[in-house]
Amino acid sequence: MAVILPDSVTGWERLDAYRSRGGYRGLARALELDPETVADWLLQADLRGRGGAGYPTGKKWQAVIRHAEAERYLVVNGAEGEPGAFKDRRLMATAPHAVVEGLLIAAWAIRATAVLVYVNSDFQDAARALGGALDEAVEAGWAGPGGRVKAPVKLLLEPHVYIAGEETALLNVLMGNPAQPWHKPPYPTEKGLWGKPTVVNNVETLAAAAVILREGPEWFRARRPMLFSVSGDVRLPGVYEAPLGTRLADLLERAGGPPPGERFQAVLPGGYSMPPLFADQLGVPLDYDALAALGTGLGASIIAVATNRTLGQVAADILEFFARETCGKCPVCVKGTRVLADQLGPARGGPLAEAAQRELLATAVKYRHKGICSFLDTAAHLAESLAPQVGPAAGVRLDA
Ligand SMILES: Cc1cc2nc3c(=O)[nH]c(=O)nc-3n(C[C@H](O)[C@H](O)[C@H](O)COP(=O)(O)O)c2cc1C
Repeated sequence: MAVILPDSVTGWERLDAYRSRGGYRGLARALELDPETVADWLLQADLRGRGGAGYPTGKKWQAVIRHAEAERYLVVNGAEGEPGAFKDRRLMATAPHAVVEGLLIAAWAIRATAVLVYVNSDFQDAARALGGALDEAVEAGWAGPGGRVKAPVKLLLEPHVYIAGEETALLNVLMGNPAQPWHKPPYPTEKGLWGKPTVVNNVETLAAAAVILREGPEWFRARRPMLFSVSGDVRLPGVYEAPLGTRLADLLERAGGPPPGERFQAVLPGGYSMPPLFADQLGVPLDYDALAALGTGLGASIIAVATNRTLGQVAADILEFFARETCGKCPVCVKGTRVLADQLGPARGGPLAEAAQRELLATAVKYRHKGICSFLDTAAHLAESLAPQVGPAAGVRLDA
Protein backbone atom coordinates (compact mmCIF):
# COMPACT_ATOMS: atom_id res chain seq x y z
CA MET A 1 0.00 0.00 0.00
CA ALA A 2 1.23 3.41 -0.91
CA VAL A 3 1.61 5.91 1.94
CA ILE A 4 2.74 9.12 0.28
CA LEU A 5 0.97 8.75 -3.06
CA PRO A 6 -2.69 7.74 -3.34
CA ASP A 7 -3.27 4.24 -4.76
CA SER A 8 -5.15 5.66 -7.70
CA VAL A 9 -6.40 9.06 -8.69
CA THR A 10 -7.48 10.80 -11.85
CA GLY A 11 -6.48 14.45 -11.99
CA TRP A 12 -5.46 15.59 -8.51
CA GLU A 13 -6.61 14.20 -5.21
CA ARG A 14 -9.24 16.50 -3.65
CA LEU A 15 -9.47 17.34 0.02
CA ASP A 16 -12.17 14.77 0.82
CA ALA A 17 -10.22 11.93 -0.74
CA TYR A 18 -7.04 13.02 1.02
CA ARG A 19 -8.85 13.23 4.34
CA SER A 20 -10.27 9.76 3.85
CA ARG A 21 -6.70 8.39 3.90
CA GLY A 22 -5.80 10.31 7.05
CA GLY A 23 -4.97 13.66 5.48
CA TYR A 24 -4.58 16.67 7.82
CA ARG A 25 -4.44 14.49 10.93
CA GLY A 26 -0.69 15.20 10.93
CA LEU A 27 -1.23 18.94 10.94
CA ALA A 28 -3.88 18.63 13.67
CA ARG A 29 -1.36 16.67 15.77
CA ALA A 30 1.46 19.14 15.08
CA LEU A 31 -0.71 22.01 16.31
CA GLU A 32 -1.00 20.25 19.68
CA LEU A 33 2.77 19.82 20.06
CA ASP A 34 5.43 22.42 20.64
CA PRO A 35 7.80 23.16 17.72
CA GLU A 36 10.80 21.48 19.36
CA THR A 37 8.79 18.27 19.76
CA VAL A 38 7.75 18.40 16.10
CA ALA A 39 11.41 18.69 15.04
CA ASP A 40 12.30 15.93 17.49
CA TRP A 41 9.72 13.59 15.92
CA LEU A 42 11.35 14.13 12.52
CA LEU A 43 14.73 13.27 14.03
CA GLN A 44 13.34 10.16 15.73
CA ALA A 45 11.77 9.12 12.42
CA ASP A 46 15.19 9.59 10.78
CA LEU A 47 13.72 11.72 8.02
CA ARG A 48 16.40 12.88 5.63
CA GLY A 49 15.84 15.42 2.85
CA ARG A 50 14.42 13.95 -0.33
CA GLY A 51 15.94 16.63 -2.58
CA GLY A 52 19.12 14.60 -2.95
CA ALA A 53 21.48 15.75 -0.22
CA GLY A 54 19.87 13.65 2.52
CA TYR A 55 20.31 16.16 5.34
CA PRO A 56 18.29 15.39 8.52
CA THR A 57 15.12 17.48 8.26
CA GLY A 58 14.63 17.79 12.03
CA LYS A 59 18.06 19.40 12.41
CA LYS A 60 17.25 21.95 9.72
CA TRP A 61 13.95 22.87 11.39
CA GLN A 62 15.63 23.02 14.82
CA ALA A 63 18.20 25.53 13.55
CA VAL A 64 15.45 27.93 12.52
CA ILE A 65 13.16 27.20 15.49
CA ARG A 66 16.05 28.16 17.79
CA HIS A 67 17.12 31.22 15.79
CA ALA A 68 16.67 34.55 17.55
CA GLU A 69 15.50 36.39 14.43
CA ALA A 70 11.71 36.88 14.32
CA GLU A 71 11.47 37.08 10.54
CA ARG A 72 11.97 33.64 9.00
CA TYR A 73 10.91 31.85 5.85
CA LEU A 74 9.96 28.46 4.51
CA VAL A 75 10.89 27.83 0.88
CA VAL A 76 9.48 24.76 -0.81
CA ASN A 77 11.61 23.26 -3.55
CA GLY A 78 9.57 22.01 -6.49
CA ALA A 79 12.23 22.78 -9.12
CA GLU A 80 13.10 19.19 -10.12
CA GLY A 81 15.18 19.92 -13.20
CA GLU A 82 17.45 16.89 -13.51
CA PRO A 83 16.84 14.54 -16.46
CA GLY A 84 15.37 11.27 -15.17
CA ALA A 85 13.77 12.90 -12.11
CA PHE A 86 9.99 13.22 -12.08
CA LYS A 87 8.79 12.05 -8.66
CA ASP A 88 8.26 15.58 -7.29
CA ARG A 89 6.18 16.57 -10.27
CA ARG A 90 4.04 13.45 -9.86
CA LEU A 91 3.63 14.12 -6.15
CA MET A 92 2.61 17.75 -6.64
CA ALA A 93 0.32 16.96 -9.58
CA THR A 94 -1.51 14.01 -8.03
CA ALA A 95 -1.26 14.44 -4.26
CA PRO A 96 -0.93 18.22 -3.76
CA HIS A 97 -2.56 18.11 -0.31
CA ALA A 98 0.28 15.90 0.93
CA VAL A 99 2.66 18.75 0.08
CA VAL A 100 0.31 21.44 1.41
CA GLU A 101 -0.17 19.62 4.71
CA GLY A 102 3.59 19.18 5.08
CA LEU A 103 4.34 22.80 4.33
CA LEU A 104 1.71 24.00 6.78
CA ILE A 105 3.27 21.80 9.47
CA ALA A 106 6.71 23.23 8.68
CA ALA A 107 5.41 26.81 8.52
CA TRP A 108 3.75 26.38 11.88
CA ALA A 109 6.75 24.68 13.52
CA ILE A 110 9.31 27.24 12.39
CA ARG A 111 6.85 30.14 12.83
CA ALA A 112 7.38 31.16 9.20
CA THR A 113 6.67 34.75 8.26
CA ALA A 114 5.75 33.49 4.79
CA VAL A 115 5.99 30.37 2.66
CA LEU A 116 7.27 30.54 -0.92
CA VAL A 117 6.63 27.51 -3.10
CA TYR A 118 9.00 27.34 -6.07
CA VAL A 119 7.49 25.28 -8.87
CA ASN A 120 9.25 24.55 -12.15
CA SER A 121 7.23 26.47 -14.75
CA ASP A 122 7.16 23.40 -17.03
CA PHE A 123 4.91 21.76 -14.43
CA GLN A 124 1.60 23.44 -15.20
CA ASP A 125 -0.26 20.36 -13.94
CA ALA A 126 1.55 20.54 -10.61
CA ALA A 127 0.95 24.28 -10.25
CA ARG A 128 -2.78 23.89 -10.97
CA ALA A 129 -3.08 21.07 -8.46
CA LEU A 130 -1.14 22.89 -5.73
CA GLY A 131 -3.18 26.06 -6.31
CA GLY A 132 -6.42 24.08 -6.05
CA ALA A 133 -5.28 22.29 -2.91
CA LEU A 134 -4.22 25.55 -1.27
CA ASP A 135 -7.67 27.04 -1.98
CA GLU A 136 -9.29 23.98 -0.42
CA ALA A 137 -7.01 24.19 2.62
CA VAL A 138 -8.02 27.83 3.12
CA GLU A 139 -11.72 26.99 2.77
CA ALA A 140 -11.34 24.15 5.28
CA GLY A 141 -9.79 26.55 7.79
CA TRP A 142 -6.29 25.06 7.80
CA ALA A 143 -4.56 27.95 6.06
CA GLY A 144 -5.07 31.64 5.29
CA PRO A 145 -5.64 34.70 7.46
CA GLY A 146 -8.62 33.12 9.24
CA GLY A 147 -7.11 29.62 9.36
CA ARG A 148 -5.02 27.63 11.83
CA VAL A 149 -1.73 28.41 10.03
CA LYS A 150 -1.77 32.05 9.08
CA ALA A 151 1.55 32.45 7.24
CA PRO A 152 0.81 33.55 3.67
CA VAL A 153 1.64 30.85 1.12
CA LYS A 154 2.77 32.07 -2.30
CA LEU A 155 3.02 29.80 -5.32
CA LEU A 156 5.73 30.92 -7.75
CA LEU A 157 6.17 29.44 -11.21
CA GLU A 158 9.82 29.90 -12.09
CA PRO A 159 11.77 29.00 -15.23
CA HIS A 160 13.17 25.52 -15.63
CA VAL A 161 16.90 25.90 -14.99
CA TYR A 162 18.73 22.92 -13.51
CA ILE A 163 20.97 24.89 -11.16
CA ALA A 164 17.95 26.79 -9.79
CA GLY A 165 17.11 23.60 -7.86
CA GLU A 166 20.22 24.12 -5.73
CA GLU A 167 18.93 25.84 -2.62
CA THR A 168 21.04 29.01 -2.66
CA ALA A 169 20.53 29.52 -6.41
CA LEU A 170 16.81 29.03 -5.81
CA LEU A 171 16.83 31.67 -3.08
CA ASN A 172 18.65 34.02 -5.43
CA VAL A 173 15.96 33.53 -8.07
CA LEU A 174 13.27 34.28 -5.50
CA MET A 175 15.10 37.50 -4.61
CA GLY A 176 15.19 38.56 -8.27
CA ASN A 177 18.86 37.66 -8.81
CA PRO A 178 20.39 35.36 -11.45
CA ALA A 179 20.08 31.61 -10.81
CA GLN A 180 23.53 31.27 -9.26
CA PRO A 181 24.49 29.60 -5.98
CA TRP A 182 26.45 31.27 -3.24
CA HIS A 183 29.26 29.75 -1.24
CA LYS A 184 28.02 28.02 1.94
CA PRO A 185 28.36 29.02 4.75
CA PRO A 186 26.24 30.96 5.34
CA TYR A 187 23.65 28.20 5.10
CA PRO A 188 20.06 29.25 4.43
CA THR A 189 19.06 28.33 8.00
CA GLU A 190 21.40 31.12 9.13
CA LYS A 191 21.01 33.65 6.30
CA GLY A 192 18.56 32.68 3.60
CA LEU A 193 15.82 34.61 1.88
CA TRP A 194 16.42 38.36 2.36
CA GLY A 195 19.24 37.41 4.75
CA LYS A 196 16.76 35.84 7.19
CA PRO A 197 16.79 32.27 8.58
CA THR A 198 15.14 30.02 6.02
CA VAL A 199 14.23 26.37 5.78
CA VAL A 200 14.45 25.07 2.22
CA ASN A 201 12.77 21.71 1.85
CA ASN A 202 11.99 19.44 -1.05
CA VAL A 203 8.28 18.77 -1.67
CA GLU A 204 8.57 15.05 -0.88
CA THR A 205 10.37 15.80 2.37
CA LEU A 206 7.38 17.87 3.47
CA ALA A 207 4.90 15.18 2.42
CA ALA A 208 6.91 12.68 4.49
CA ALA A 209 6.87 15.06 7.48
CA ALA A 210 3.06 15.04 7.32
CA VAL A 211 3.08 11.21 7.44
CA ILE A 212 5.38 11.28 10.48
CA LEU A 213 3.12 13.67 12.36
CA ARG A 214 0.08 11.58 11.46
CA GLU A 215 1.44 8.11 12.19
CA GLY A 216 4.22 8.81 14.69
CA PRO A 217 8.00 8.50 14.34
CA GLU A 218 8.27 4.78 15.23
CA TRP A 219 5.71 3.86 12.58
CA PHE A 220 7.59 5.85 9.96
CA ARG A 221 10.99 4.55 10.96
CA ALA A 222 9.76 0.99 10.59
CA ARG A 223 8.45 1.62 7.07
CA ARG A 224 10.57 4.42 5.61
CA PRO A 225 8.32 5.23 2.62
CA MET A 226 10.10 6.96 -0.22
CA LEU A 227 9.42 7.88 -3.85
CA PHE A 228 11.81 6.73 -6.55
CA SER A 229 11.85 7.97 -10.16
CA VAL A 230 13.06 4.96 -12.13
CA SER A 231 14.04 5.53 -15.74
CA GLY A 232 16.57 4.64 -18.41
CA ASP A 233 16.62 1.11 -19.77
CA VAL A 234 13.68 -0.43 -17.91
CA ARG A 235 10.43 -1.66 -19.39
CA LEU A 236 8.19 0.33 -17.03
CA PRO A 237 9.81 3.65 -16.20
CA GLY A 238 7.83 5.52 -13.54
CA VAL A 239 7.50 6.69 -9.96
CA TYR A 240 7.63 3.86 -7.43
CA GLU A 241 6.88 4.17 -3.75
CA ALA A 242 9.03 1.72 -1.81
CA PRO A 243 10.71 1.59 1.58
CA LEU A 244 14.14 3.13 1.88
CA GLY A 245 16.33 0.04 2.11
CA THR A 246 14.56 -1.84 -0.70
CA ARG A 247 17.02 -3.89 -2.73
CA LEU A 248 17.90 -2.09 -5.95
CA ALA A 249 17.33 -5.33 -7.91
CA ASP A 250 13.77 -5.57 -6.52
CA LEU A 251 12.97 -2.01 -7.50
CA LEU A 252 14.30 -2.63 -11.01
CA GLU A 253 12.15 -5.74 -11.14
CA ARG A 254 9.06 -3.68 -10.25
CA ALA A 255 10.06 -1.36 -13.09
CA GLY A 256 9.78 -4.30 -15.48
CA GLY A 257 13.45 -5.29 -15.69
CA PRO A 258 15.66 -4.57 -18.69
CA PRO A 259 14.36 -4.32 -22.28
CA PRO A 260 13.74 -7.69 -23.97
CA GLY A 261 16.95 -9.54 -24.73
CA GLU A 262 19.12 -7.11 -22.74
CA ARG A 263 20.64 -7.16 -19.26
CA PHE A 264 21.59 -4.41 -16.85
CA GLN A 265 25.24 -3.39 -16.98
CA ALA A 266 25.08 -0.40 -14.60
CA VAL A 267 22.69 1.74 -12.58
CA LEU A 268 23.06 5.34 -11.48
CA PRO A 269 21.43 5.15 -8.01
CA GLY A 270 21.73 8.92 -7.45
CA GLY A 271 20.84 10.15 -10.93
CA TYR A 272 23.41 12.47 -12.47
CA SER A 273 25.05 13.24 -9.16
CA MET A 274 26.40 9.89 -7.95
CA PRO A 275 28.80 7.24 -9.32
CA PRO A 276 27.32 4.12 -10.91
CA LEU A 277 26.81 0.65 -9.53
CA PHE A 278 27.56 -2.34 -11.71
CA ALA A 279 25.73 -5.57 -12.52
CA ASP A 280 27.23 -7.49 -9.60
CA GLN A 281 26.20 -4.79 -7.09
CA LEU A 282 22.47 -4.59 -7.76
CA GLY A 283 21.58 -6.55 -4.62
CA VAL A 284 22.47 -3.49 -2.51
CA PRO A 285 19.75 -2.03 -0.29
CA LEU A 286 18.85 1.50 -1.35
CA ASP A 287 19.83 3.29 1.82
CA TYR A 288 22.38 5.92 2.70
CA ASP A 289 24.89 3.74 4.52
CA ALA A 290 24.86 0.72 2.21
CA LEU A 291 25.32 2.94 -0.84
CA ALA A 292 28.01 5.05 0.83
CA ALA A 293 29.94 1.84 1.53
CA LEU A 294 30.00 1.27 -2.24
CA GLY A 295 31.17 4.84 -2.90
CA THR A 296 27.86 6.14 -4.16
CA GLY A 297 24.52 7.36 -2.84
CA LEU A 298 20.96 8.37 -3.50
CA GLY A 299 20.05 11.48 -5.47
CA ALA A 300 17.26 12.70 -7.68
CA SER A 301 16.49 9.44 -9.51
CA ILE A 302 17.49 5.89 -10.40
CA ILE A 303 18.74 5.48 -13.99
CA ALA A 304 19.29 2.01 -15.40
CA VAL A 305 21.77 1.33 -18.19
CA ALA A 306 21.31 -1.95 -20.05
CA THR A 307 23.53 -3.58 -22.65
CA ASN A 308 21.68 -1.84 -25.51
CA ARG A 309 23.93 1.24 -25.11
CA THR A 310 27.45 1.80 -23.90
CA LEU A 311 28.52 3.56 -20.74
CA GLY A 312 30.59 5.80 -22.99
CA GLN A 313 27.37 7.11 -24.57
CA VAL A 314 25.78 7.62 -21.18
CA ALA A 315 28.83 9.38 -19.73
CA ALA A 316 29.16 11.68 -22.76
CA ASP A 317 25.48 12.67 -22.57
CA ILE A 318 25.66 13.43 -18.85
CA LEU A 319 28.83 15.50 -19.10
CA GLU A 320 27.38 17.41 -22.04
CA PHE A 321 24.39 18.21 -19.80
CA PHE A 322 26.68 19.58 -17.08
CA ALA A 323 28.63 21.68 -19.62
CA ARG A 324 25.36 23.14 -20.93
CA GLU A 325 23.77 23.76 -17.52
CA THR A 326 26.64 25.36 -15.61
CA CYS A 327 25.36 28.71 -14.34
CA GLY A 328 28.47 30.55 -15.54
CA LYS A 329 29.37 32.15 -12.22
CA CYS A 330 32.68 30.31 -11.75
CA PRO A 331 35.03 30.33 -14.77
CA VAL A 332 36.61 27.13 -13.44
CA CYS A 333 33.22 25.37 -13.68
CA VAL A 334 32.52 26.65 -17.20
CA LYS A 335 35.96 25.46 -18.31
CA GLY A 336 36.04 22.20 -16.36
CA THR A 337 32.62 20.93 -17.44
CA ARG A 338 33.39 21.86 -21.08
CA VAL A 339 36.74 20.07 -21.12
CA LEU A 340 35.25 16.95 -19.54
CA ALA A 341 32.37 16.92 -22.03
CA ASP A 342 34.75 17.37 -24.96
CA GLN A 343 37.05 14.63 -23.76
CA LEU A 344 34.12 12.25 -23.33
CA GLY A 345 32.44 13.15 -26.64
CA PRO A 346 34.43 10.63 -28.72
CA ALA A 347 33.36 7.84 -26.30
CA ARG A 348 29.96 7.97 -28.03
CA GLY A 349 31.55 6.36 -31.07
CA GLY A 350 33.44 3.61 -29.23
CA PRO A 351 36.07 3.04 -26.54
CA LEU A 352 38.61 5.83 -26.01
CA ALA A 353 42.28 5.10 -26.65
CA GLU A 354 44.29 4.49 -23.49
CA ALA A 355 46.02 7.89 -23.67
CA ALA A 356 42.66 9.70 -24.01
CA GLN A 357 41.25 7.71 -21.13
CA ARG A 358 44.23 8.64 -18.95
CA GLU A 359 43.83 12.30 -19.92
CA LEU A 360 40.14 12.19 -19.00
CA LEU A 361 40.95 10.72 -15.62
CA ALA A 362 43.61 13.38 -14.98
CA THR A 363 41.16 16.15 -15.93
CA ALA A 364 38.48 14.71 -13.67
CA VAL A 365 40.87 14.56 -10.72
CA LYS A 366 42.08 18.11 -11.42
CA TYR A 367 38.56 19.54 -11.22
CA ARG A 368 37.41 17.67 -8.11
CA HIS A 369 36.51 19.97 -5.17
CA LYS A 370 36.59 23.11 -7.33
CA GLY A 371 33.91 25.78 -7.82
CA ILE A 372 31.76 27.44 -5.15
CA CYS A 373 28.97 24.86 -5.18
CA SER A 374 28.99 21.12 -5.72
CA PHE A 375 28.21 21.33 -9.45
CA LEU A 376 31.73 20.98 -10.90
CA ASP A 377 32.76 18.49 -8.23
CA THR A 378 29.75 16.34 -9.08
CA ALA A 379 30.53 16.44 -12.80
CA ALA A 380 34.20 15.64 -12.18
CA HIS A 381 33.39 12.84 -9.72
CA LEU A 382 31.01 11.25 -12.21
CA ALA A 383 33.56 11.50 -15.04
CA GLU A 384 36.19 9.97 -12.78
CA SER A 385 33.93 7.09 -11.78
CA LEU A 386 32.97 6.38 -15.39
CA ALA A 387 36.47 6.79 -16.85
CA PRO A 388 37.41 3.13 -16.33
CA GLN A 389 34.35 2.18 -18.40
CA VAL A 390 35.08 4.23 -21.49
CA GLY A 391 38.59 3.06 -22.40
CA PRO A 392 39.95 0.09 -24.35
CA ALA A 393 38.72 -2.31 -21.66
CA ALA A 394 35.20 -0.76 -21.70
CA GLY A 395 32.63 -2.95 -20.01
CA VAL A 396 35.26 -4.54 -17.76
CA ARG A 397 35.41 -3.32 -14.19
CA LEU A 398 38.98 -2.32 -13.56
CA ASP A 399 38.51 -2.44 -9.80
CA ALA A 400 36.96 -5.92 -9.85
C1 LIG B 1 22.79 21.24 -8.94
C2 LIG B 1 21.77 20.95 -7.88
C3 LIG B 1 20.43 20.86 -8.22
C4 LIG B 1 19.47 20.61 -7.24
N1 LIG B 1 18.15 20.48 -7.61
C5 LIG B 1 17.22 20.23 -6.68
C6 LIG B 1 15.83 20.15 -7.04
O1 LIG B 1 15.47 20.30 -8.21
N2 LIG B 1 14.92 19.89 -6.05
C7 LIG B 1 15.31 19.72 -4.73
O2 LIG B 1 14.46 19.51 -3.87
N3 LIG B 1 16.60 19.81 -4.37
C8 LIG B 1 17.55 20.07 -5.31
N4 LIG B 1 18.86 20.18 -4.92
C9 LIG B 1 19.18 20.07 -3.47
C10 LIG B 1 18.93 21.41 -2.77
O3 LIG B 1 20.11 22.20 -2.86
C11 LIG B 1 18.61 21.23 -1.28
O4 LIG B 1 19.52 20.34 -0.71
C12 LIG B 1 17.19 20.69 -1.04
O5 LIG B 1 16.22 21.47 -1.69
C13 LIG B 1 16.93 20.71 0.46
O6 LIG B 1 15.71 20.09 0.75
P1 LIG B 1 15.66 18.71 1.54
O7 LIG B 1 16.55 18.83 2.73
O8 LIG B 1 14.21 18.58 1.89
O9 LIG B 1 16.13 17.65 0.58
C14 LIG B 1 19.85 20.43 -5.89
C15 LIG B 1 21.21 20.53 -5.55
C16 LIG B 1 22.16 20.78 -6.52
C17 LIG B 1 23.60 20.85 -6.11
